Amino acid sequence: MPIRRTQRASAADWTATLATPAYVFDGVQLGVALEQFAALARRADLKVLFSVKACTLAPLLKLVAERVDGFSVSSWFESRLARRVLDDKGTVHLTSPGLDARELAAAQECCTAISFNSLGQWHRLRDSLTGEVQAALRVNPQRSYVADERYDPCRKHSKLGVPLPALRGALEGGAVVLDRLDGLHFHTHCESGSFRPLVETLALLEESLPEVFARIRWVNMGGGYYADAADADALAACVRALRQRRGIEVYMEPGKGIAAAAGSLVASVVDILDSAGKTIAVLDTSVNHQPEVFEYGRVPPVREAEPGGAFGYLLAGGTCLAGDLFGEYAFPEPLAVGSRITFTGVGAYSLAKAHRFNGHNLPDVHLRRADGTLEHVVHQDYEGYARLWGAG
Ligand SMILES: Cc1ncc(COP(=O)(O)O)c(C=O)c1O
Repeated sequence: MPIRRTQRASAADWTATLATPAYVFDGVQLGVALEQFAALARRADLKVLFSVKACTLAPLLKLVAERVDGFSVSSWFESRLARRVLDDKGTVHLTSPGLDARELAAAQECCTAISFNSLGQWHRLRDSLTGEVQAALRVNPQRSYVADERYDPCRKHSKLGVPLPALRGALEGGAVVLDRLDGLHFHTHCESGSFRPLVETLALLEESLPEVFARIRWVNMGGGYYADAADADALAACVRALRQRRGIEVYMEPGKGIAAAAGSLVASVVDILDSAGKTIAVLDTSVNHQPEVFEYGRVPPVREAEPGGAFGYLLAGGTCLAGDLFGEYAFPEPLAVGSRITFTGVGAYSLAKAHRFNGHNLPDVHLRRADGTLEHVVHQDYEGYARLWGAG
């Protein structure tokens, strides 16, 4: 049940007063990332869509909507929520390898553009688009930039986008009718600290697909970039030149780069135990509230920890999974049952992927507004859990 209770809390005391576990989204931090992307948009003359899969929290989406040109989505549910937040204003782009006729029929009510992921999708579904919804193709430039292939959209045998040589072949064979193509989409990166890959990929695509760039109205460069990534000047020059040459709009659709820094997860220690010489602090959260910790083997930053601190602990989640572990941390003071642990930088892909394995409830969600007000925006309860499992 969503609830909405507000209280004033200073930055110093909000972790101490919350019932845990709790996600806290900080509107000020969010504003910093949004301003960085807005500055990039002004500099490069491009448009920014927030990729809502990173964080689908509606009150956060409302704040984001004020500072971006729209949203990008992956499904009917996301598109419906995006449209509800945006009302009738703003762009909504959808792309998904899982799109079928039923999903498309529902989603297109809420979208301004659909980027088809394969030539099969294009042939099967393109004609069912209504007049106002723009049609695009997701192309896979086959340029790998991500070391871990689980997150590399351009990995060998990728399912994501039409491989560039196959698109070339389809264009030459007349299988893609250009006057129906409004846009081109690609997404090739994740957590990039440089915009150079976008510059390289735009050049490759324009050179390989000149007849496409002569016709389309826009290109969407996907997400995977932090706003303060290096080589922003090179990207700005490249996008401005492309826009001038071709007269097209250029979009990007970051998720993590907008939401990650804004989110924290506040937890409490519920037990401390010794295991073969290591002291384990068990928390009232788990890796199921930060699934990327388990997927990536990432050790998330903890605000209270201090490198070189005298008291070392292995922080563990409270589920039955032996690998439900956050990693080893040092603290300046000993931990005790009830001590607060704040994981930072978890605003993207944590809440969105969290689940209730072991029947552990999902964390409450709070939004800290710019005036210091802490708004309690989501509380999940046993009734919701029981409904999920068919208990009526
Ligand atoms: C097509 C597409 N666009 C945008 C994004 C957002 O990426 P990120 O959150 O890394 O910026 C993703 C992430 O998977 C994606 O698949």
